[in-house]
Amino acid sequence: MLLYIHIPFCDSKCFYCSFNSYTTLFHLKTEYMKALNIQLQEELKKTKEPLKSIFIGGGTPSSIEANLYDNIFVSLENFIDKDTEVTIEANPNSTTVEWLTHLKNLGVNRVSFGVQSFDDGKLKFLGRNHNKTMALNSVNLASQVGFTNINLDIIYDTAIDTNKLINNDLEIIKTLPINHISAYSLTIEEGTKFFKSPEVKIENIDMASYIFEKLQEFGFSQYEISNFSKDENSRSKHNFGYWEKEDYLGVGAGAVGCIGDKRYYPKKDVQAYIDTPNEYEEIEILKDEDIKLERVFLGLRSLAGVPYNLFTKMEKEKIAILEKEDKIYIKNNLVFNKDFLLSDEIALFLE
Ligand SMILES: C[S@@+](CC[C@H](N)C(=O)[O-])C[C@H]1O[C@@H](n2cnc3c(N)ncnc32)[C@H](O)[C@@H]1O
Ligand code: SF4
Repeated sequence: MLLYIHIPFCDSKCFYCSFNSYTTLFHLKTEYMKALNIQLQEELKKTKEPLKSIFIGGGTPSSIEANLYDNIFVSLENFIDKDTEVTIEANPNSTTVEWLTHLKNLGVNRVSFGVQSFDDGKLKFLGRNHNKTMALNSVNLASQVGFTNINLDIIYDTAIDTNKLINNDLEIIKTLPINHISAYSLTIEEGTKFFKSPEVKIENIDMASYIFEKLQEFGFSQYEISNFSKDENSRSKHNFGYWEKEDYLGVGAGAVGCIGDKRYYPKKDVQAYIDTPNEYEEIEILKDEDIKLERVFLGLRSLAGVPYNLFTKMEKEKIAILEKEDKIYIKNNLVFNKDFLLSDEIALFLE
C-alpha cells in the first residue's frame, strides 16, 4: 500500500501548472492540516501493514511550517518501518535548514525539489519564483542536513530551450549531491497561463534523446520515460508502485486514492475539504478493461513492464511481431519496451 498526501498551497502559480494548488488560502493552513489528519486516520483503517511509500506532494509542502506536520507523523507512527520511503516535495524559495531538519527528524528520508532549470531566464519564462542560486543552495542544504535521497524535477521541450541552455543545466546536475532526476516534457494544461500560448511548448525528440543519453552518461539510468536514478536502490518506490498498479490511499484536497477497482476522490475545494474531510466528492468504479489499459500504458513506459498473461491471444501475436522488430522483449513473464519514447505508439498498436 502507498500513501499520497496533498498540500494545496503555493507561494505563486507557475505558468504551466494545473495541479490543485492556491496562492491565496494560506489563512486556512492550520485548519487544513487538522482536516488532513482526520482523513488520514480514517484512511489508515484500510491497511494493517506498514506502508511501502508515503509521498507528501503538492502544491508546495515547504510552504507550510514544519511543526504543522507533527500530528500527521504521530498518526503514521505504526505505518512506517525501516523500509518505508517517505518523500516530501520542496520548492527552492521556501526551503530552510530548520524545515529540512525538522522533517528529517519526523522520518522523511527523501526530498524532491521542483527546480525545473538552473537558467534564470528559463525560470522566469516558466513563472517560477526562485533563481539558480536559490536552487543550488536548497539542494546543498538538504545534503548538509543529511538527506542522501534527493530528487530534482526538471522541465524540457520549452520554446526557449537551446542546446547551450540544456547543456549548462546538465553540467550543473552532474555536480550535485542527488541520486534521482525526474525530467518532464512540458505539457500544456487547460486553465494555466500557458494554455493561451501553446507555442511555448515544442516537441523535439532529438533533444529528449540527447537529455536521456547525457543523464545516462552521468550515471543516471532511465527506469521510466521521465525518471532516472543513480542505481536500483534509488528508484522511487512510490513511482514504481503506481506503475505496478499497487493500491494507494489519497489524502487531502484534490488527492486521489485507488483500492482494487475503486478510485476515491476527496473534495477538491479546500474549504469544503476542511468542512468534511471524510466525504468523497466521487467514487469511481473502474472497468476491467480500463484497469488493463492503464496497466499496459504505465508498464510500457517503465521498467515495471506488463505481465504477459494480461494479453489476449491476438495481442500476443502482435507482441511477437514487435519482438522480432527488436522493439520489446519478454523476461520473467513480463513484457518490456526498449524505447520509452515509443511507449504510447506501442501501447496503441497492441490495443
Ligand atoms: C506538482 S509539482 C509539485 C512540486 C513543487 N511544487 C514544485 O513545483 O517545485 C511536481 C512537478 O511536476 C512537474 N510539472 C507540473 N506541471 C507540469 C507541466 N504542465 N508540464 C511538465 N511538467 C510539469 C514539475 O516539474 C513539478 O516540479
Ligand atoms: S509547479 Fe509546483 S510551485 Fe508551481 S504552481 Fe505547480 S505545484 Fe505550485
